[in-house]
Amino acid sequence: MKKFVIGILVAASLVSRAAAQEQGADAASGKALWDGSNTQCRSCHGSAGEGAFGPALAGRGLSSAEFRQAARKPWGIMPAFTQDQVSDADLANFATYFAGLPKAADAGPWRVPAPEDGRLGQKIAISLGCAQCHGATFDVARGILGGTAVGFGQFKDLVYNHTVAMPKLGIAEGNTPGQRLHMGNYNPLRISEQQLKAIYDWTKNDLGFRPFLEARLTADKSDVAGATYVLKVENSGFKKKGPAAQDVTIHIALPAGATVMHATGDGYKGVHPDAVAKADVAEWKLAKIAPTDEQTFAVTLSSPVDKAGLKGSLSWAKPAPKTGAKLDTMNFALRSPG
Ligand code: HEC
Ligand code: HEC
Repeated sequence: MKKFVIGILVAASLVSRAAAQEQGADAASGKALWDGSNTQCRSCHGSAGEGAFGPALAGRGLSSAEFRQAARKPWGIMPAFTQDQVSDADLANFATYFAGLPKAADAGPWRVPAPEDGRLGQKIAISLGCAQCHGATFDVARGILGGTAVGFGQFKDLVYNHTVAMPKLGIAEGNTPGQRLHMGNYNPLRISEQQLKAIYDWTKNDLGFRPFLEARLTADKSDVAGATYVLKVENSGFKKKGPAAQDVTIHIALPAGATVMHATGDGYKGVHPDAVAKADVAEWKLAKIAPTDEQTFAVTLSSPVDKAGLKGSLSWAKPAPKTGAKLDTMNFALRSPG
């Protein structure tokens, strides 16, 4: 009798393995897509599928059919992803990759934990999983919503009908050819309009929309010594719609021992120690960066920065955040070429 039961168990586990490892699917491609910048599934399921906000996927022997069901017709609060975002082949690769990983002993922590005294809209954004990708205070989203003056009707569309509405928003984000949209389409039966209204009101009225600023710090390839770094700051807000950033301060934190040989750009104020950066910073101050304005700043350091790179921040006094920090800040770091 005992032998018989074991026989059945072995047969069952062979069937489920065969189902998970579908023909042509390969674990390495699944891992590459999971770890790379084309999907953000890991924001909810953990960097190795160990589980976090969403359930664990590693070592559970989920089949590619189960992956397809979950991604195309999620039964809960996970958004649905289109073929263009993750194809059936991608999902089969995920299934094979996770079937081959050991089961995690415990789920990992949520990427963005719930704050203790959140407002209603924030609590909803956390409980629905939005914050796992957008962060606890939706900083980037509030810039885009502010810069393009998104009303609630459009906001709703960007959530329920994301893969159609996002490319129509008319901004570079989500429009880059070859880049897949990371957010899926939410089901109105799972996330109500009322819940979305609370999130929208929280971003607009409790925290406040922001100017749509973008900062890009890169090494200047034309400098043979390799120690010149260029910062491009742009207000990508729509003309006459988006807010200007006023009383802007830009800091680039200097690596220990480095000095500034040369600096360009409007409003350069020199170098001074900064408590927040815990380093000497090169500073620029500008009265205003209005929608469609683009400004360029550059520093030449005494020697090129090492692997740790270069970091900085951009802060503005107005429009001021309605709650929380006194000054709105955005951090940026040196981008690798390409
Ligand atoms: C917002 C967080 C979130 C994101 C992003 C997300 N998931 Fe999920 N996922 C969940 C939750 C929560 C569940 C549980 C079912 C539900 O709520 O729909 C789930 C369920 C699943 C399941 C079924 C697991 C089971 O136990 O049967 C699979 C497979 C899955 N997700 C794969 C993916 C893939 C692939 C992606 C990226 C394309 C992804 N998920 C993105 C939250 C997320
Ligand atoms: C898997 C990560 C992820 C989750 C979960 C997610 N978003 Fe997004 N969202 C993004 C990204 C990334 C973009 C930019 C376009 C893209 O790549 O899809 C975006 C875009 C948006 C936009 C358009 C403005 C902007 O910031 O580009 C809105 C509005 C938005 N999300 C709201 C929400 C709400 C509300 C929820 C929860 C119901 C949510 N998102 C859940 C990743 C996510």
